[in-house]
Amino acid sequence: MNVNGHPQRTIWDEDDGWSIGIIDQTRLPHAFETVTLASVDDAARAIKEMLVRGAPLIGATAAYGVCLALREDSSDAALKQAYDVLIETRPTAVNLRWALDEMITALQQLPLDRRIEAAYRRAGEIADEDVTICSAIGDHGLPLIQAAYKNKKSTAPVNVLTHCNAGWLATVDWGTALAPIYKAHDAGIPVHVWVDETRPRNQGAALTAGELGQHGVEHTVIVDNAGGHLMQHGQVDLCITGTDRTTASGDVCNKIGTYLKALAAHDNSVPFYVALPGPTIDWTLEDGVAEIPIEERDPAEVTWIGGRTEKGTDEAVLISPKDSRAANYAFDVTPARLVTGLITERGVCAASRDGLGALYPEK
Ligand code: MRU
Repeated sequence: MNVNGHPQRTIWDEDDGWSIGIIDQTRLPHAFETVTLASVDDAARAIKEMLVRGAPLIGATAAYGVCLALREDSSDAALKQAYDVLIETRPTAVNLRWALDEMITALQQLPLDRRIEAAYRRAGEIADEDVTICSAIGDHGLPLIQAAYKNKKSTAPVNVLTHCNAGWLATVDWGTALAPIYKAHDAGIPVHVWVDETRPRNQGAALTAGELGQHGVEHTVIVDNAGGHLMQHGQVDLCITGTDRTTASGDVCNKIGTYLKALAAHDNSVPFYVALPGPTIDWTLEDGVAEIPIEERDPAEVTWIGGRTEKGTDEAVLISPKDSRAANYAFDVTPARLVTGLITERGVCAASRDGLGALYPEK
């Protein structure tokens, strides 16, 4: 997608032919800064400290992290060490494990002197495939927005509610939940997006609003608790969110608060779609609530809030009594029964084992 009119991906090969460039997403929306990753530890830190985030981008960054590790040492021991360091960075998004497994499969049988080149090739493919997949998610989701527009029988915009950031910043390009929105906007359908701010890290307010604005898509930032009210008053035509891990039975794990939006959508007969690439499906799991590991992050992310002051400085302020305890659950699980459909690169299906099985028969 474009940043200030220039095409930009979230991760790229630097001109030196080996180091990796990323956008420091912790600095958005107020500053656009890039960072160069030069070691596996740089890659692990970028994932853990959320300079990069979003399930597909975490996977691509981990793949490049393996490349950076092998440059220093291409032995089996170093490959395993890189896997172990990277897999520990974040627990919920399954694309991380998927990408690392892809790298191991591509590399472990090769002689040491062929590993580095093969690693960069496979990491590049993972990144390129993500762009193709996300574009296809957009193509398959577009008819849902077209249908909602037709249903309105007026020229008023289609109102889509989304949570967190599942746009191009969470992937290599295009995004998952936002890809159909970009395609609809580009096709001339008037779309307006309700953007959940998405506490505690505010990926909605900071990232989703920023990227929709860059693309010229109408949007309004709302507090996380506003969605139910808007749905009760007919102001949401459909919800589309992303997911960090989807079970084989169609349960979806996404940023904390997604489940409450799905409940409100169900109560108000608002269609609730979830967009995902194939690598976000964890075919080993059935029951998302019982089985998906939920990341718990630093409570300070709840008690402190950061932003830019009128003077232009970036500051954080404490918003609760300094001695109050806080808990920071980063994700929740929306059961398949609350999901109207899954938008994948292979089409839209029911959130069920049969629905996913029909699209991914090889699994
Ligand atoms: O904690 P984050 O920012 O890595 O959260 C991931 C997300 O961006 C969302 O949960 C998203 O909706 C799914 S990933 C496309």
